[in-house]
Amino acid sequence: MLLEINNLHKSYGNGVNRVEILKGISFDVKKGEFVVLLGPSGSGKSTLLNIIGGIDTPDEGYISIDGHKTGDMKDKALTAYRRDHLGYIFQMYNLIPNLTVKENIEVGAYLSKNPLELDELIDTLGLTEHKNKLPNQLSGGQQQRTAIGRAIIKNPDVLLCDEPTGALDYNTSKEILKLIEDVNQKYGNTVIMVTHNDAIKNMSDRVIKLKDGSIRKNYINDNKISAAELEW
Ligand SMILES: Nc1ncnc2c1ncn2[C@@H]1O[C@H](COP(=O)(O)OP(=O)(O)OP(=O)(O)O)[C@@H](O)[C@H]1O
Ligand SMILES: [Mg+2]
Repeated sequence: MLLEINNLHKSYGNGVNRVEILKGISFDVKKGEFVVLLGPSGSGKSTLLNIIGGIDTPDEGYISIDGHKTGDMKDKALTAYRRDHLGYIFQMYNLIPNLTVKENIEVGAYLSKNPLELDELIDTLGLTEHKNKLPNQLSGGQQQRTAIGRAIIKNPDVLLCDEPTGALDYNTSKEILKLIEDVNQKYGNTVIMVTHNDAIKNMSDRVIKLKDGSIRKNYINDNKISAAELEW
């Protein structure tokens, strides 16, 4: 098992304002698995992803990656865990405005031990003819492809995606989903993707549904289809 998520609890606020956001979340993720995490707004999806990503910490429970509990790690080890094992793709692309496409992607390889070959990755991303442009010269889809490149260049074990198509139109969304699918298949990275969009579960290996901070469903998708076949 690559990732073990065990009995995570998380609350925000103090005293009477304290609200429990995650109420004992447990699930396992296998290496190379494509997991889609579904749930309504406010159900705790981003909170969960941030805890898996080591950006936030749980009040109770643990995450273990390859048998190492992240909660046992000191700050330095946690930074190394994030750097060596995780890639993060957000809804908003967060590119550095005064760097080109190529340079923005290169940033992601910083301190990485075995980065992917930059020009080959740019080609896979379909960005070769745009590689010397600045973010404000790109469409939303091209910006998101650049952000995917930045997350993937260090060839992370786990790619965490929080609504990666939330800001994109239908066709561009499908193109980005196809790219994440290609990356998962070509490089074998494990993917955990958060979305509101129920149709996206059809391209996953495993579906996890959250509601009010608890898991309502966790099942293997036996009828996996390609991103290109998705419709909504
Ligand atoms: N730092 C914080 N402090 C206080 N409350 C927070 C904090 N972060 C999240 N919350 C609350 O936790 C709940 C879950 O938030 P979260 O962002 O995980 O939801 P989500 O499922 O990702 O929703 P969405 O689909 O809208 O992105 C929300 O009610 C939110 O207001
Ligand atoms: Mg969210």
